[in-house]
Amino acid sequence: MLETIKELKEKHNAVILAHYYQEPEIQDMADFVGDSLELSRKAAGTDADVILFCGVHFMAETAKIVNPRKKVIIPDMDAGCSLADSAPPELFKKWVEKYPGYVVVSYINCSAEVKALSDIICTSANAKKVVESIPKDKKILFAPDRFLGKYVIKETGRDMVLWNGSCQVHEIFSERELVRLKAEHEKAKVLAHPECEESILMHADFIGSTSALIKNVNETDDQKYIIATEPGVIHQMQKQNPGKEFIPLPSNDGCACNECPHMRLNTMEKIVETLRNLDNEITLDESVRAKALKPLNRMLEIV
Ligand code: 13P
Ligand code: SF4
Repeated sequence: MLETIKELKEKHNAVILAHYYQEPEIQDMADFVGDSLELSRKAAGTDADVILFCGVHFMAETAKIVNPRKKVIIPDMDAGCSLADSAPPELFKKWVEKYPGYVVVSYINCSAEVKALSDIICTSANAKKVVESIPKDKKILFAPDRFLGKYVIKETGRDMVLWNGSCQVHEIFSERELVRLKAEHEKAKVLAHPECEESILMHADFIGSTSALIKNVNETDDQKYIIATEPGVIHQMQKQNPGKEFIPLPSNDGCACNECPHMRLNTMEKIVETLRNLDNEITLDESVRAKALKPLNRMLEIV
Protein backbone atom coordinates (compact mmCIF):
# COMPACT_ATOMS: atom_id res chain seq x y z
CA MET A 1 0.00 0.00 0.00
CA LEU A 2 2.86 2.38 0.78
CA GLU A 3 4.30 1.86 -2.73
CA THR A 4 0.90 2.46 -4.35
CA ILE A 5 0.34 5.60 -2.26
CA LYS A 6 3.76 6.91 -3.31
CA GLU A 7 3.03 6.33 -7.01
CA LEU A 8 -0.45 7.88 -6.78
CA LYS A 9 0.92 10.89 -4.91
CA GLU A 10 3.46 11.51 -7.68
CA LYS A 11 0.88 10.97 -10.40
CA HIS A 12 -1.55 13.53 -8.93
CA ASN A 13 0.98 15.87 -7.27
CA ALA A 14 -0.76 15.18 -3.97
CA VAL A 15 0.23 15.88 -0.39
CA ILE A 16 -1.07 13.87 2.57
CA LEU A 17 -1.80 15.71 5.82
CA ALA A 18 -2.75 13.78 8.96
CA HIS A 19 -3.96 14.64 12.44
CA TYR A 20 -2.40 13.12 15.57
CA TYR A 21 -5.59 11.15 16.25
CA GLN A 22 -5.12 8.99 13.16
CA GLU A 23 -3.98 5.37 13.38
CA PRO A 24 -0.18 5.07 13.78
CA GLU A 25 0.33 3.68 10.25
CA ILE A 26 -1.51 6.67 8.78
CA GLN A 27 0.61 9.11 10.81
CA ASP A 28 3.79 7.36 9.65
CA MET A 29 2.73 7.38 6.00
CA ALA A 30 1.65 11.06 5.90
CA ASP A 31 3.83 13.88 4.55
CA PHE A 32 2.94 15.99 7.55
CA VAL A 33 1.33 15.26 10.93
CA GLY A 34 0.09 18.02 13.19
CA ASP A 35 -2.56 19.62 15.38
CA SER A 36 -5.43 21.64 13.90
CA LEU A 37 -3.45 24.89 13.79
CA GLU A 38 -0.35 23.37 12.19
CA LEU A 39 -2.48 21.49 9.66
CA SER A 40 -4.37 24.62 8.62
CA ARG A 41 -1.05 26.47 8.19
CA LYS A 42 0.36 23.59 6.19
CA ALA A 43 -2.76 23.45 4.00
CA ALA A 44 -2.49 27.20 3.38
CA GLY A 45 1.15 26.91 2.31
CA THR A 46 1.19 23.80 0.11
CA ASP A 47 1.96 23.90 -3.63
CA ALA A 48 0.45 20.43 -4.24
CA ASP A 49 -2.56 20.17 -6.58
CA VAL A 50 -4.36 17.66 -4.37
CA ILE A 51 -4.60 17.61 -0.56
CA LEU A 52 -5.61 14.28 0.94
CA PHE A 53 -6.69 15.16 4.44
CA CYS A 54 -6.50 12.31 6.95
CA GLY A 55 -8.60 13.81 9.68
CA VAL A 56 -12.25 14.78 10.06
CA HIS A 57 -14.54 16.74 7.77
CA PHE A 58 -14.14 20.21 9.36
CA MET A 59 -10.36 19.91 9.02
CA ALA A 60 -10.57 19.05 5.31
CA GLU A 61 -13.11 21.85 4.89
CA THR A 62 -10.64 24.28 6.47
CA ALA A 63 -8.02 23.17 3.93
CA LYS A 64 -10.55 23.90 1.15
CA ILE A 65 -11.44 27.31 2.60
CA VAL A 66 -7.79 28.41 2.35
CA ASN A 67 -7.23 26.60 -0.99
CA PRO A 68 -10.28 27.08 -3.23
CA ARG A 69 -8.48 26.07 -6.42
CA LYS A 70 -7.00 22.84 -5.05
CA LYS A 71 -8.73 19.49 -4.86
CA VAL A 72 -9.22 18.54 -1.22
CA ILE A 73 -10.22 14.93 -0.59
CA ILE A 74 -10.89 12.90 2.55
CA PRO A 75 -10.64 9.11 2.99
CA ASP A 76 -14.14 8.83 4.50
CA MET A 77 -16.84 11.46 3.97
CA ASP A 78 -18.59 10.29 7.15
CA ALA A 79 -15.65 11.30 9.36
CA GLY A 80 -17.48 14.09 11.20
CA CYS A 81 -17.05 15.61 14.65
CA SER A 82 -19.53 15.74 17.52
CA LEU A 83 -18.40 19.25 18.43
CA ALA A 84 -18.90 20.58 14.90
CA ASP A 85 -22.29 18.81 14.78
CA SER A 86 -23.34 20.41 18.06
CA ALA A 87 -23.57 23.79 16.31
CA PRO A 88 -26.07 23.57 13.42
CA PRO A 89 -25.66 26.76 11.33
CA GLU A 90 -29.35 27.85 11.52
CA LEU A 91 -29.40 27.67 15.34
CA PHE A 92 -25.97 29.24 15.57
CA LYS A 93 -27.14 32.17 13.40
CA LYS A 94 -30.14 32.78 15.69
CA TRP A 95 -27.87 32.63 18.75
CA VAL A 96 -25.44 35.19 17.27
CA GLU A 97 -28.35 37.49 16.36
CA LYS A 98 -29.46 37.48 20.01
CA TYR A 99 -26.16 39.15 20.98
CA PRO A 100 -25.61 42.16 18.69
CA GLY A 101 -22.19 43.80 19.04
CA TYR A 102 -20.53 40.70 20.54
CA VAL A 103 -17.30 39.39 19.00
CA VAL A 104 -17.93 35.81 17.81
CA VAL A 105 -14.98 33.49 18.50
CA SER A 106 -15.40 30.01 17.04
CA TYR A 107 -13.24 27.01 17.74
CA ILE A 108 -11.99 25.55 14.44
CA ASN A 109 -14.06 22.38 15.17
CA CYS A 110 -17.13 23.78 13.42
CA SER A 111 -18.66 23.81 9.93
CA ALA A 112 -17.71 26.29 7.19
CA GLU A 113 -21.18 27.86 7.62
CA VAL A 114 -20.51 28.52 11.31
CA LYS A 115 -17.05 29.90 10.48
CA ALA A 116 -18.73 32.22 7.97
CA LEU A 117 -20.89 33.61 10.81
CA SER A 118 -17.87 34.16 13.09
CA ASP A 119 -15.46 37.07 13.59
CA ILE A 120 -12.39 35.03 14.43
CA ILE A 121 -11.44 31.35 14.62
CA CYS A 122 -9.23 29.74 17.24
CA THR A 123 -7.76 26.30 17.86
CA SER A 124 -6.84 24.68 21.15
CA ALA A 125 -3.26 25.87 20.56
CA ASN A 126 -4.13 29.55 20.35
CA ALA A 127 -7.56 30.03 21.98
CA LYS A 128 -6.09 32.02 24.87
CA LYS A 129 -4.11 34.34 22.57
CA VAL A 130 -7.06 34.85 20.24
CA VAL A 131 -9.36 35.84 23.12
CA GLU A 132 -6.65 38.10 24.59
CA SER A 133 -6.38 39.85 21.20
CA ILE A 134 -9.96 41.11 21.54
CA PRO A 135 -10.22 44.60 23.08
CA LYS A 136 -11.24 44.46 26.76
CA ASP A 137 -14.37 46.56 26.21
CA LYS A 138 -15.79 44.03 23.72
CA LYS A 139 -18.18 41.29 24.77
CA ILE A 140 -17.47 37.79 23.47
CA LEU A 141 -19.48 34.80 22.26
CA PHE A 142 -17.50 31.53 22.24
CA ALA A 143 -18.59 28.38 20.38
CA PRO A 144 -19.04 25.48 20.12
CA ASP A 145 -17.00 23.84 22.94
CA ARG A 146 -18.21 24.84 26.40
CA PHE A 147 -15.32 23.06 28.14
CA LEU A 148 -12.64 24.81 26.10
CA GLY A 149 -14.66 28.01 26.65
CA LYS A 150 -14.68 27.52 30.43
CA TYR A 151 -10.95 26.84 30.39
CA VAL A 152 -10.28 30.03 28.39
CA ILE A 153 -12.47 32.07 30.76
CA LYS A 154 -10.39 30.76 33.65
CA GLU A 155 -7.10 31.47 31.89
CA THR A 156 -7.91 34.94 30.57
CA GLY A 157 -10.38 36.22 33.16
CA ARG A 158 -12.64 37.30 30.26
CA ASP A 159 -16.36 36.87 30.59
CA MET A 160 -17.74 34.98 27.59
CA VAL A 161 -21.16 33.63 26.63
CA LEU A 162 -20.67 29.95 25.73
CA TRP A 163 -22.40 27.71 23.21
CA ASN A 164 -23.42 24.45 24.85
CA GLY A 165 -21.36 21.99 22.76
CA SER A 166 -18.84 19.33 23.67
CA CYS A 167 -16.65 16.59 22.25
CA GLN A 168 -18.06 13.09 22.74
CA VAL A 169 -14.55 11.72 23.35
CA HIS A 170 -13.23 14.27 25.82
CA GLU A 171 -16.41 14.72 27.84
CA ILE A 172 -16.55 11.12 29.01
CA PHE A 173 -13.10 10.67 30.48
CA SER A 174 -13.42 9.22 33.95
CA GLU A 175 -12.30 11.35 36.89
CA ARG A 176 -12.62 8.31 39.17
CA GLU A 177 -10.25 6.36 36.93
CA LEU A 178 -7.86 9.32 36.76
CA VAL A 179 -7.67 9.56 40.54
CA ARG A 180 -7.13 5.80 40.77
CA LEU A 181 -4.34 5.90 38.14
CA LYS A 182 -2.68 8.84 39.90
CA ALA A 183 -2.64 6.90 43.16
CA GLU A 184 -1.26 3.81 41.42
CA HIS A 185 1.40 5.74 39.47
CA GLU A 186 2.41 8.40 41.97
CA LYS A 187 5.13 9.91 39.80
CA ALA A 188 3.10 10.03 36.60
CA LYS A 189 2.38 13.46 35.13
CA VAL A 190 -1.14 14.13 33.88
CA LEU A 191 -1.37 15.75 30.43
CA ALA A 192 -4.84 16.86 29.28
CA HIS A 193 -6.48 18.45 26.25
CA PRO A 194 -8.60 21.54 27.05
CA GLU A 195 -11.67 19.87 25.51
CA CYS A 196 -11.84 17.81 28.74
CA GLU A 197 -14.24 18.69 31.53
CA GLU A 198 -13.03 20.82 34.43
CA SER A 199 -13.16 17.74 36.70
CA ILE A 200 -10.35 16.25 34.56
CA LEU A 201 -8.44 19.48 33.90
CA MET A 202 -8.17 20.22 37.65
CA HIS A 203 -5.94 17.14 38.01
CA ALA A 204 -3.69 18.03 35.06
CA ASP A 205 -0.03 19.00 35.36
CA PHE A 206 -0.13 20.37 31.83
CA ILE A 207 -2.98 21.37 29.51
CA GLY A 208 -2.55 21.97 25.79
CA SER A 209 -3.28 21.12 22.17
CA THR A 210 -2.16 17.75 20.83
CA SER A 211 1.12 19.28 19.61
CA ALA A 212 1.70 21.06 22.91
CA LEU A 213 1.17 17.78 24.82
CA ILE A 214 3.73 15.99 22.61
CA LYS A 215 6.17 18.89 23.04
CA ASN A 216 5.70 18.75 26.81
CA VAL A 217 6.69 15.07 26.85
CA ASN A 218 9.77 15.85 24.75
CA GLU A 219 10.83 18.68 27.02
CA THR A 220 10.28 17.18 30.46
CA ASP A 221 12.34 14.58 32.31
CA ASP A 222 9.40 12.62 33.74
CA GLN A 223 9.22 8.94 32.88
CA LYS A 224 5.48 8.28 33.11
CA TYR A 225 2.48 10.20 31.79
CA ILE A 226 -1.28 9.75 32.04
CA ILE A 227 -2.75 11.00 28.77
CA ALA A 228 -6.21 12.62 28.87
CA THR A 229 -6.95 12.98 25.19
CA GLU A 230 -7.50 10.71 22.19
CA PRO A 231 -4.79 8.02 22.48
CA GLY A 232 -3.63 8.53 18.87
CA VAL A 233 -1.17 11.15 20.21
CA ILE A 234 0.64 8.45 22.19
CA HIS A 235 2.11 7.12 18.94
CA GLN A 236 4.23 10.26 18.48
CA MET A 237 5.03 10.52 22.20
CA GLN A 238 6.29 6.94 22.26
CA LYS A 239 8.15 7.25 18.96
CA GLN A 240 10.01 10.34 20.11
CA ASN A 241 10.52 9.05 23.67
CA PRO A 242 10.99 5.25 23.47
CA GLY A 243 12.07 4.97 27.10
CA LYS A 244 9.02 6.66 28.61
CA GLU A 245 5.68 5.11 29.62
CA PHE A 246 2.27 6.42 28.57
CA ILE A 247 -1.04 5.47 30.15
CA PRO A 248 -4.19 6.39 28.19
CA LEU A 249 -7.01 7.64 30.42
CA PRO A 250 -10.10 5.46 29.93
CA SER A 251 -13.67 6.68 29.53
CA ASN A 252 -16.12 6.47 32.41
CA ASP A 253 -17.88 3.33 31.26
CA GLY A 254 -14.77 1.29 30.54
CA CYS A 255 -15.39 1.14 26.77
CA ALA A 256 -12.86 2.14 24.11
CA CYS A 257 -14.73 5.44 23.72
CA ASN A 258 -11.56 7.45 24.26
CA GLU A 259 -10.83 6.71 20.58
CA CYS A 260 -12.54 9.22 18.29
CA PRO A 261 -14.99 7.14 16.21
CA HIS A 262 -14.86 9.73 13.42
CA MET A 263 -11.09 9.98 13.12
CA ARG A 264 -10.84 6.20 13.22
CA LEU A 265 -13.08 5.79 10.15
CA ASN A 266 -10.04 6.60 8.01
CA THR A 267 -8.02 3.54 7.02
CA MET A 268 -5.03 2.83 4.79
CA GLU A 269 -7.32 0.96 2.38
CA LYS A 270 -9.65 3.96 2.05
CA ILE A 271 -6.64 6.25 1.59
CA VAL A 272 -5.39 4.18 -1.37
CA GLU A 273 -8.84 4.12 -3.00
CA THR A 274 -9.48 7.84 -2.46
CA LEU A 275 -6.10 8.73 -3.90
CA ARG A 276 -6.63 6.40 -6.86
CA ASN A 277 -10.09 7.75 -7.77
CA LEU A 278 -9.67 11.30 -6.42
CA ASP A 279 -13.18 11.06 -5.01
CA ASN A 280 -14.67 12.16 -1.66
CA GLU A 281 -13.98 15.72 -2.70
CA ILE A 282 -14.82 18.61 -0.35
CA THR A 283 -16.91 21.25 -2.13
CA LEU A 284 -18.11 24.53 -0.70
CA ASP A 285 -20.51 27.23 -1.74
CA GLU A 286 -18.21 30.09 -2.85
CA SER A 287 -19.97 32.79 -0.81
CA VAL A 288 -19.75 30.65 2.35
CA ARG A 289 -16.10 29.86 1.64
CA ALA A 290 -15.19 33.52 1.11
CA LYS A 291 -16.97 34.54 4.34
CA ALA A 292 -15.34 31.69 6.30
CA LEU A 293 -11.88 32.66 5.04
CA LYS A 294 -11.96 36.06 6.78
CA PRO A 295 -12.10 34.83 10.42
CA LEU A 296 -9.64 32.06 9.58
CA ASN A 297 -7.15 34.53 8.11
CA ARG A 298 -7.66 36.78 11.12
CA MET A 299 -6.53 33.88 13.30
CA LEU A 300 -3.59 32.99 11.05
CA GLU A 301 -2.44 36.63 11.12
CA ILE A 302 -2.47 36.83 14.93
CA VAL A 303 -0.83 33.53 15.83
P1 13P B 1 -5.84 19.80 18.33
O1 13P B 1 -5.99 21.06 17.55
O2 13P B 1 -5.31 20.01 19.70
O3 13P B 1 -5.02 18.82 17.56
O4 13P B 1 -7.29 19.18 18.58
C1 13P B 1 -8.12 18.73 17.57
C2 13P B 1 -9.27 17.99 18.08
O5 13P B 1 -10.18 17.64 17.38
C3 13P B 1 -9.29 17.66 19.49
O6 13P B 1 -10.34 16.84 19.75
FE1 SF4 C 1 -14.36 16.05 17.16
FE2 SF4 C 1 -13.86 15.09 19.57
FE3 SF4 C 1 -13.23 13.64 17.46
FE4 SF4 C 1 -11.83 15.87 18.04
S1 SF4 C 1 -11.93 13.99 19.25
S2 SF4 C 1 -12.58 15.25 16.04
S3 SF4 C 1 -13.45 17.17 18.87
S4 SF4 C 1 -15.30 14.23 18.10
